[in-house]
Amino acid sequence: MRENRLGFKPMQEFDVEGKKVLLRVDINSPIDPTTKKIVNENRLDKSIPTIEWLLDHGAKLAMIAHQGDTLDYQNLIPLIEHAQKFSEKLGRNVRYIDDVCGPVAQSAVEALDEGEAVLLGNLRYLCEEISTFEDAVKLKPEEMVNTWLVRSLAPLFDLYVNDAFAAAHRNAPSMVAFQEVLPSAAGPLFFNEVSALNQVMSNPAHPSVFVLGGAKISDAFGMMEQVLSNGTADEILTCGVIGEVFLLASGQSLGSKVDEFLQKKGLMPFIEQAKGYLEKFPGKIKMPCDLAYEAKGMREEISVSELPAELLYLDVGSMTIEEYRKSIETAGTVFVNGPAGVFEDELFEAGTKKIWQAIADVEGFTVVGGGDSVSAASRFTDIKKMSYVCTAGGAMVRYVSGKKLPLIAAMEKAAGLT
Ligand code: 3PG
Repeated sequence: MRENRLGFKPMQEFDVEGKKVLLRVDINSPIDPTTKKIVNENRLDKSIPTIEWLLDHGAKLAMIAHQGDTLDYQNLIPLIEHAQKFSEKLGRNVRYIDDVCGPVAQSAVEALDEGEAVLLGNLRYLCEEISTFEDAVKLKPEEMVNTWLVRSLAPLFDLYVNDAFAAAHRNAPSMVAFQEVLPSAAGPLFFNEVSALNQVMSNPAHPSVFVLGGAKISDAFGMMEQVLSNGTADEILTCGVIGEVFLLASGQSLGSKVDEFLQKKGLMPFIEQAKGYLEKFPGKIKMPCDLAYEAKGMREEISVSELPAELLYLDVGSMTIEEYRKSIETAGTVFVNGPAGVFEDELFEAGTKKIWQAIADVEGFTVVGGGDSVSAASRFTDIKKMSYVCTAGGAMVRYVSGKKLPLIAAMEKAAGLT
């Protein structure tokens, strides 16, 4: 385990023998859209040492977790397979209870014996878990103690452990309210994640290069100003949709298809913001110099200087890959979030594949996070070559942006630090 510089209590400081422990994990996993089966077990794997430690030390363990969300219902499934996978990985039974905090869940918790574990139902079926962090309702943690979840479960437990840093940005009862009413501790994964990110933020070896891709523009934009202003990043290499937004901000037209795409996704307002960053940080934000597209089932590349064209771009081109590789090669720190292109399609995997391979070969400290980036790293590299693979995506980016995350605030309060 990494050094604890956070001041939260680690779970190992508690005697858990015979105690009822409520563990919040983040096992929100990518799900195959057709079979609805888990396709990447990284978050499950990373939770295993925590569960093992608690069970080995005689805890009566109940776990709460979320899967998917109600925005599109694609990944919103019960946690049965998660419990089965836990059972296989732990070599002991993890019972699944398809109830989050109602009478069935409560009876199952009451019946727990030492060294036994249950996984309760998907938290995202509870409207109060979601509505409290959406715009309409803004409850403070001390108000969330009145939610059905906390009222029903808290009295049954002796200790609350949070090991769900990947959901640290969610101001939900399961994340921030149990700390109000129960002795609370942080799990080892939580410490590891935060320590790795602290290393990037407070003491990065230079040059520090950030590779930002994918389509989650608001996350990346929320972070750029902070990391460039305070010297956490010396250079940002943009790719994916983020790269396109910066090209447009630099005055480069990409053609009406790209405009239509950005319009449809509501991303046009980011162009103005990107212009501001280019002015404020001259030379620090790199953009693709060529892009890849599909023609007659083949990958083709086009130099940005030949644009606009009526095409859609699904990867960065070879010259960009080469240029980015050179920056990465000499970096002391590399932080990666978001793929370079649509790497799931073989035609457009080259950017992500080669850039990720360059990152894996770097001698310096490398941190990769975010579901897609981690999947790409597992697919194209020996992931063990990355210094740290963070389970978090949105939480990681917000943490590095210097934002006080709801979970961190709740844990600090619980530890008497605020
Ligand atoms: C994540 O995958 O980033 C966390 O599990 C949080 O999930 P959410 O973005 O659906 O809240």
